[in-house]
Amino acid sequence: MRDCHHALAEWLEPLEVKTTIDAAGNLHGLYPGIQAGVPRLLIGSHLDTVPNAGAYDGILGVVLAVALLEELQGKKLPFAIEVLGFSEEEGVRFGTPFIGSRALAGKLGGELLDTRDAQGVSVRSAIENFGLNPEELAQAALGDDTLGYLEFHIEQGPVLEDRKLPLAAVESIAGQSRFEINFSGRANHAGTTPMHLRRDAIAGAAEWIGAAERVAQSTPGLVATVGKIESKPGAANVIAGNARLTLDIRHSSDTIRLRAAEDLNREAQKIASRRRLSVSSKQLLSQRAVELDPFLTGEIEKAIRKTGCEPHRMVSGAGHDAMILAQTIPSAMIFLRTPGGISHDPAESVAVEDVEKAIQCGLHLLNQLANSPDFYNVPHSKG
Ligand code: GLV
Ligand code: MN
Ligand code: MN
Repeated sequence: MRDCHHALAEWLEPLEVKTTIDAAGNLHGLYPGIQAGVPRLLIGSHLDTVPNAGAYDGILGVVLAVALLEELQGKKLPFAIEVLGFSEEEGVRFGTPFIGSRALAGKLGGELLDTRDAQGVSVRSAIENFGLNPEELAQAALGDDTLGYLEFHIEQGPVLEDRKLPLAAVESIAGQSRFEINFSGRANHAGTTPMHLRRDAIAGAAEWIGAAERVAQSTPGLVATVGKIESKPGAANVIAGNARLTLDIRHSSDTIRLRAAEDLNREAQKIASRRRLSVSSKQLLSQRAVELDPFLTGEIEKAIRKTGCEPHRMVSGAGHDAMILAQTIPSAMIFLRTPGGISHDPAESVAVEDVEKAIQCGLHLLNQLANSPDFYNVPHSKG
């Protein structure tokens, strides 16, 4: 992450943009506006990623912000532009996502700071270990001079490729819940314990994973994923005494998502009691679906049209920092076509021509906003 911060600082330096790192490990770089004290438009995405990841999820949105500033060639707008590179969006290390953007929304504190990673390191200690001061987190919160947030991101799905379109305007982002589920039974000898006398935690977990898949398959639009499972003691000749797994469940309707999460938690209890296991469930995230800003989304559509492309509107199934910022300031997203719809995998890619279109679209958008005094003269913070 430090190398990444250094690389961005080097690219921004010739543009006379100095970078700073806030107490949540987010990178900020301010490109001044036409005069001192003008409000700022944030443009960015996240710098962290998933294990065995591709090279574009998140980072492309930060690099595109730098590219847009380069393309401005020193031209100043009636608002400043702040490049943002968020930390810890994916939730890989601490199980809970959007940690960096939550600091900007003033929502990184309390219980979240005490959340621990697999090595027992808390978010608070991780901040200190990186050389930052958790006492300064309040200073990372957005000021009321912020006009809005714009995020470029790969679509991470097949829709734009299918429609043969390079770009889309995102109108909303599906809500998501994450849980950690623990099945406990009795570890015992795999050779001597008859099947009917077992309390096998993995077998219980497996039955429940099947139930999660069935619930999602039978609920239109619902996606449910068990992406991680750990068992103890973890040997071929020992019945598992414990199985710990994650559930990630998403839908554009919060009601449907919450109902499915409840049903699956109830199902876990039923399976556990039938199998003489115990089960506990810890909710790590319940993030409601968000609508993105209608004005900015409309302007993105106009900007896409100016690049000669049909502006498609879509819902994002993936989570983004824009979900968090949209609760505080007007936020908008532009998706880039993702070849093969493949993401969260080394095969993730993007076409150079599509990136070119994204830069053109971004420049049109900045121009449009610079010609919209109603946009930059009004304080937009929702507080
Ligand atoms: C972020 O990539 C997510 O999990 O949607
Ligand atoms: Mn991701
Ligand atoms: Mn991402």
